[in-house]
Amino acid sequence: MAEAKIIDGKLMAQEVRENVATGVAFLQQHHGITPGLAVVLVGDNPASQIYIRNKGRATTAAGMKSFEHRFDAGLSEKDLLKLIETLNGDDNVNGILVQLPLPDHIDDTKVISAIAPEKDVDGFHVINTGLLATGGDGLVPGTPLGCLMMVKKYAGSLSGKNALVIGRSNIVGKPMAQLLLKESCTVTIGHSKTRDLKAECLRADILVVAVGVPNLVTGDMVKPGAVVIDVGQNIIPAPEKGEGKTRLVGDVDFDAVKNIAGAITPVPGGVGPMTIACLLKNTLTATCRQQGISLKEDT
Ligand code: GUN
Repeated sequence: MAEAKIIDGKLMAQEVRENVATGVAFLQQHHGITPGLAVVLVGDNPASQIYIRNKGRATTAAGMKSFEHRFDAGLSEKDLLKLIETLNGDDNVNGILVQLPLPDHIDDTKVISAIAPEKDVDGFHVINTGLLATGGDGLVPGTPLGCLMMVKKYAGSLSGKNALVIGRSNIVGKPMAQLLLKESCTVTIGHSKTRDLKAECLRADILVVAVGVPNLVTGDMVKPGAVVIDVGQNIIPAPEKGEGKTRLVGDVDFDAVKNIAGAITPVPGGVGPMTIACLLKNTLTATCRQQGISLKEDT
């Protein structure tokens, strides 16, 4: 059996980042504008600290300004909302991202709703989710945006294809389903209460898995030739690497599914790198819209 094409997320992300850097250079040269991204971290969640560091580095590497606001977990909701108000009114800040999860005493929804929708580069504000659901042009969350780019590259024409999204989160599952619907796929959303997940999977020409369960999708669940996008980021024990060692795996049994799928993303090196690249793309898009500037579609 032919092996699946391995979708190189690092390479695709590099291309996106180069296009963003070209767009940023154009804005600087012709309009004297340097896009700025403000990232807010509350608390010391180790995974969030790594994300924030990588986002900051990628932002400056693309030629944009990066503003980091770090607070200890005791920051009050009121003070966080005050900061967002300041960032909303700051012309040097074109994009605002508040890293999730927030400490329990802070209401995520309240905080996200406080971000100016035109600066909401995560695409989490209800204005942006509403625009996506009604076919409008808002800001789209980076992870599903990156997944769609991969699907488009490897699945050919999407119109009429069966797409299954497993997972119904606001960050990935729901926006992913909306994006695939916009491309005229026949979209199903599977979740923990789905009765026969295997049967749903076997119908899917496009399968996007975003639940956080290692090996949820096994070889016998995949339609031959399907495009499989694994959004899972699970850290599991890896005794083979030594005592106490761990490794990162997705939600798909990669070794089995790669013999059946037409194309598949690895973990790591698949969806992950595309998330930050698409965040930068969103920051450029937001800046251009705020300034009434249109760039070529590929930047
Ligand atoms: N936490 C995990 N993923 C994300 C993301 O895409 N954006 C934000 N703001 N927080 C996250």
